[in-house]
Amino acid sequence: MTTQGRTAIITGAARGLGRATATRLARSGVRIALVDVDREALEQVRAAIVAAGGDATAFVVDITDSRAVEAAVGRILAEFGHVDILVNNAGSGWHKAAPFKDTPNEDWEWILDLNLKGTLYVTHALLDHMVSRRYGKIVNVASVAATCGIPKLAVYSASKGALVAFTKSLAMELGPYGINVNCVSPGLITTETPPPATQGTFLGRKGTADEMACLIEFMVSDDASFITGADYLIDGGRTLGPRGV
Ligand SMILES: NC(=O)c1ccc[n+]([C@@H]2O[C@H](COP(=O)([O-])OP(=O)(O)OC[C@H]3O[C@@H](n4cnc5c(N)ncnc54)[C@H](O)[C@@H]3O)[C@@H](O)[C@H]2O)c1
Repeated sequence: MTTQGRTAIITGAARGLGRATATRLARSGVRIALVDVDREALEQVRAAIVAAGGDATAFVVDITDSRAVEAAVGRILAEFGHVDILVNNAGSGWHKAAPFKDTPNEDWEWILDLNLKGTLYVTHALLDHMVSRRYGKIVNVASVAATCGIPKLAVYSASKGALVAFTKSLAMELGPYGINVNCVSPGLITTETPPPATQGTFLGRKGTADEMACLIEFMVSDDASFITGADYLIDGGRTLGPRGV
């Protein structure tokens, strides 16, 4: 795919889907700014990418801290010269599953800060740069929870639904500047931090992190140049509907 020679910021790159995406894009010749809070795991990802012949630099950043995000994006731009691709992947909250009536304020504030506001901070910090270059590929990682909701994950679902609405609105604003903004919505992908096993998929298995990374690689490539404002489900058919009569 046409990503060779591009540069990318990937948030939540220290493990799971972010790590798989960083590894895959690096293999395709993309220079990666790896962003995460987990210094040790991030360094392991960086070292593995470099050992495999790729180009990656680690930036330890808490994306819920808007000032830290602005400073980090400034450092990335100073070091890389330009950034073509942003994958807003960092997110969490499914392991705090509980009925909404029993969910403490601190939990839902944390989920909204990370899943929604963190993505807004990183995107906002990079937009002037992308607009001035009239080029950019932004992919936000939402969830099937945005489409169908998930009981005991009401705030998580709300944060992902907001990301989808944000994606569509931003796609309309940024289309005239040559910037594509899309969402990918996974469901039941196997990572080191497995989601709670709820209902199965129609393919009879969970997805792999590399299957997810493959979709993201397409979405940030120039092969997807006419796609914007889309929300691509990658869920093995989980959201299709009833499993029988
Ligand atoms: N795995 C799935 O089945 C699944 C399903 C639906 C949606 N998703 C979404 O995919 C994305 C990745 O999920 P995953 O399964 O790889 O999760 P994960 O927990 O394995 O990885 C998330 C990464 O984000 C990092 N992170 C957490 N807080 C951060 C912060 N404040 N600043 C910077 N980095 C931070 C973590 O350190 C971690 O490396 C998330 O947005 C998640 O909601 C995953």
